Amino acid sequence: LPDPDAAGLTDEGVAALLPRPDARSDKYRRGVVGVAAGSHRYTGAAVLAVGGAIRAGAGMVRYAGVAEPVAQVRARWPEAVVTELAPAEDGGHAGPEAGTGHADPEAGTGRADPEDTGPDAGGVDPGKRIEDVGRVQAWVLGPGLGTGPEAHAVARAVLASDVPVLVDADGLTLIAHDRSLLRRDAPVLITPHAGELSRLLQVSRGKIEARRLEYARLAAAELGVTVLLKGSTTVVAREGDPVRVNPTGSPWLATGGTGDVLAGLAGALLAAGLDCYDAASCAAYLHGMAGRHGPLAAGDVAEALPEVMRSVTNRPRHRR
Ligand code: APR
Ligand code: MG
Repeated sequence: LPDPDAAGLTDEGVAALLPRPDARSDKYRRGVVGVAAGSHRYTGAAVLAVGGAIRAGAGMVRYAGVAEPVAQVRARWPEAVVTELAPAEDGGHAGPEAGTGHADPEAGTGRADPEDTGPDAGGVDPGKRIEDVGRVQAWVLGPGLGTGPEAHAVARAVLASDVPVLVDADGLTLIAHDRSLLRRDAPVLITPHAGELSRLLQVSRGKIEARRLEYARLAAAELGVTVLLKGSTTVVAREGDPVRVNPTGSPWLATGGTGDVLAGLAGALLAAGLDCYDAASCAAYLHGMAGRHGPLAAGDVAEALPEVMRSVTNRPRHRR
């Protein structure tokens, strides 16, 4: 076995790493997180990832996505600064079934006429690209993003930035198919579960489950990234450092969307200036604590973060 190491993964260790605002803080210095997530089909992932970042105390969250998740994020998180990305140039989701030759607009597909979405879109800014989102200190890429050409273009633009990027979920599928997306100078943190790592490494899920520490370490070395491998026990690996084994968490976390909250939380810590290894370790630790008591919904994990962060950072110093 490699040298597992839980050192630093204690309340005191995490508290020492967590940034705390002081009198000179402003929202930019506290960290601006960009979230590129969600799609027409998966809106909740965007809401949850944004929520994880906001509840973790990010200075600001900038969300970028297509119309449907944009509406959801706006409704749930007035704190977020939202940019609506342009839909596909051609054959967009709401467009008629061009080219089929017999598409009947009256055929009752249950889909609203694209013209009808116009009035509802008042005041939004369609036509924007990732490059128009504004300055961020870290990106969260992938939850619910989809894996089509539009998602690929978003991933390419985000990874072309010069700030740390956390890649999760569909973002991991995109890099599994196109590893050239990872060619960049700034750091990358990936947050796969065993199935996602299986696709990335072309190794069976069973093999990964049986040797989680080794495969997390292998992925870190092979891809040149920091790896947070999720599961009943979450581990964090970076080349040249001991694999950290997260001591917190509970099976209540095994519910859809908790991974999206983790991505937002870790993104907030990256934006605050923690490196990938520390951001991943602290995020796994806090996420596990926030998921101790169930039954819970993923949104509850985000809601529990402020209290968990207070309890970790307010421990008396003499207990060190
Ligand atoms: N004990 C402790 N923690 C657990 C357990 C467990 N038994 N099972 C899951 N977790 C934690 C993981 O460590 C991780 O933090 O719950 C979170 C789940 O995250 P994901 O696996 O990313 O799941 P999520 O994205 O929230 O679910 C949405 O999308 O990609 C698919 O397969 C994925 O079905 C899942 C869905
Ligand atoms: Mg996930």
